[in-house]
Amino acid sequence: MIRVLLADESARIIENVTRRLSQEGDLVVCAVAQDGDTALQEALRTRPDVAVVDAGLPGMDGIQTTEMLVQYLPGTGVILLSLDVENEAFRRAMLAGAREFLQKPFGGDELVSAIRRVHAFLLRKATPTATSATGATAATPSSEGRLFTVVGAKGGVGKSVIAVNCAVALARSHRVALVDGSLQFGDIGVLLDVSPERTISDLAANNAVADRDVIAEVMIDGPGGVRVLAAPSSPELADYVTTQHLRALIDELRHTYDCIVVDTAPHLSEISLDLVEMADKVVLVTDLSATAVKNARLLQTVMGVLKVDSSRFMLVINHREAAGELARAYAEELLKTAATVEIPYDPGVVATSIGRGVPFALAQPQSSVAMAVTALAEILAPSVGVHRPAEPAPPGPEPAPRRRRRLLTR
Ligand SMILES: Nc1ncnc2c1ncn2[C@@H]1O[C@H](COP(=O)(O)OP(=O)(O)OP(=O)(O)O)[C@@H](O)[C@H]1O
Ligand SMILES: [Mg+2]
Repeated sequence: MIRVLLADESARIIENVTRRLSQEGDLVVCAVAQDGDTALQEALRTRPDVAVVDAGLPGMDGIQTTEMLVQYLPGTGVILLSLDVENEAFRRAMLAGAREFLQKPFGGDELVSAIRRVHAFLLRKATPTATSATGATAATPSSEGRLFTVVGAKGGVGKSVIAVNCAVALARSHRVALVDGSLQFGDIGVLLDVSPERTISDLAANNAVADRDVIAEVMIDGPGGVRVLAAPSSPELADYVTTQHLRALIDELRHTYDCIVVDTAPHLSEISLDLVEMADKVVLVTDLSATAVKNARLLQTVMGVLKVDSSRFMLVINHREAAGELARAYAEELLKTAATVEIPYDPGVVATSIGRGVPFALAQPQSSVAMAVTALAEILAPSVGVHRPAEPAPPGPEPAPRRRRRLLTR
């Protein structure tokens, strides 16, 4: 069955097209929308195979809606409809990422053929590895390990720093996997100064995302006992990794680890959305700049659509700036959420940690930033039983600056 979303301002057109499509045994209208924002929300909710979008939608117009759909749901093919007969309209549609362009008015048969063509194209595009790797498409974890997805609605708010140090703090009493889900420009390798030979894209390309032995070979030892799966060594290799790969991988990691910490990219991709959807806890990091808080609010809306309720969501405020911040209480009011943890501004400790490629949770566990991420880790997964206390680094001369392997090889 090909699932279709219809987005047109006119209720009459939606009704007519729905009636026409219902005559085809293999087509079903799974959602309708009369403006761009609703179209996007409905698409995120229902994940249609094909979206038929009118260019003249009110609010976010059809071109913008197409751009958003292509970015967030690359598995959905978009057909753009327009009254405009100019070549320019066609060019804009294609630039926005639409797969087909239909000029209004069009015949029912014409639309049906276009939907089938777009769907067939998407099926051809789906990689064989993606489909065969999906022993684990269900969101329900098949084992005990818990997934913590670290997201932010804006670049540079501190996601990677927090993910890495939180993983180290968790590893004091849990088996921890740290996965770099920022596939194109992941920073975990740099933050830990590691340069693994093989990464997540090798697992995907070799259809080994659910193979425990191969995963164990590809993951490397990170600091404090954390096992690390790095991002691809080059941005274009990220294309090998699909949401199905990540689902299968996470499901497998849940068998081996108590906690899986995943860092994500600054932009919302289909991969990040899937990692949010799968997560046992979503850690939303924001700084207190007006733009970050505004975007965090938008991200909360998306999470609402993905049914991430308050029990699965926590807000972390990271003081990434010395000045010019909104008041915490005001940000919490805007986000209608109390922050679970507040990470203090500590450029000295954070910069030293990044500069040396050694997490501050390990090197300076008594620092205020380390204490804050430890508190976060404790909330995510309380330390029960065996506990390796945070030991400050032994006193001694300042270590000489290390040559940065990862930085140079990337
Ligand atoms: N608590 C803090 N105190 C001082 N500086 C901080 C703090 N947290 C983060 N920073 C600074 O912010 C920078 C960005 O952090 P980080 O790389 O973790 O952000 P990010 O959200 O992962 O970025 P991107 O979106 O690009 O992946 C760091 O290089 C560090 O210099
Ligand atoms: Mg990052």
